[in-house]
Amino acid sequence: MNDEHDALKACCAAAYHSSDVVALLLGDAYHPGGAALTRRLADALAIAPGERVLDVASGRGATALLLADEYGAEVDGVDYSPAATALAQGAARAAGLADGVRFTTGDAERLPYPDGAFDAAVCECALCTFPDKARAAAEFARILRPGGRLGLTDVTADTTRLPPELTGLTARIACVADALPLAGPTGYERLLADAGLRTTAVERHDDALLRMVDQIEARLTLLRMTAPARLHDAGVDLDAAPAVLAAARAAVGAGVLGYALLVAVRV
Ligand SMILES: C[S@@+](CC[C@H](N)C(=O)[O-])C[C@H]1O[C@@H](n2cnc3c(N)ncnc32)[C@H](O)[C@@H]1O
Repeated sequence: MNDEHDALKACCAAAYHSSDVVALLLGDAYHPGGAALTRRLADALAIAPGERVLDVASGRGATALLLADEYGAEVDGVDYSPAATALAQGAARAAGLADGVRFTTGDAERLPYPDGAFDAAVCECALCTFPDKARAAAEFARILRPGGRLGLTDVTADTTRLPPELTGLTARIACVADALPLAGPTGYERLLADAGLRTTAVERHDDALLRMVDQIEARLTLLRMTAPARLHDAGVDLDAAPAVLAAARAAVGAGVLGYALLVAVRV
């Protein structure tokens, strides 16, 4: 047990789920690319009806529900936040999918499932926030059957070149400050390889990150006019936001920040 790590996870989970402002800014899917990129990931994983799929860091359940509804998978979702679990369970009931999708509160670094329980696992925009990524990757491999597939979509970053606006705790929770590069000795591919997961496909989706920055900017402008108190209560720093969003846009343009899809197979 590492108290500092547990505090970081709790802080991240609370930041996403303790108010509805994040949902107002991002919509149901808390990742760049939204449902379209989730479908792209599911197609790359060749998710088939009846397969057992785990969604790690399932948030409000958007990815898990899509995989059950459109791909016929039997899905489990796990998230650190009890509030997220409750919201996702409610969304499953509302969608008439509660029989095929279960949501559980748990830690990606200590997944509450037996070895080899799943045919596939997905994790969207969350590995970048986990304090012990090697442990999480080992957990992904453990819960997959041999030959099982892992699909990630995640922020990529050269953290040595991030501007000051994109470092620190808030930037870490916003999936930026502790993201990894795709390749190289500290990259996602190496992390997965060290856990026994061989990367078979990689796609760049940096444009999805730019669209998310545009969307947040537009919605912040609207909320500033219509609901400034909600932004204030949620701790959104409206004075700092323009510089942060501009820095994110510039970092994507400079190749310092991006978004990627990876598929790997448990060897
Ligand atoms: C950016 S959101 C992504 C949510 C979801 N995957 C999606 O794309 O909509 C990050 C999520 O990671 C969850 N999280 C953070 N640390 C976690 C951990 N150690 N184990 C499980 N979930 C975690 C947070 O509660 C939050 O729901």
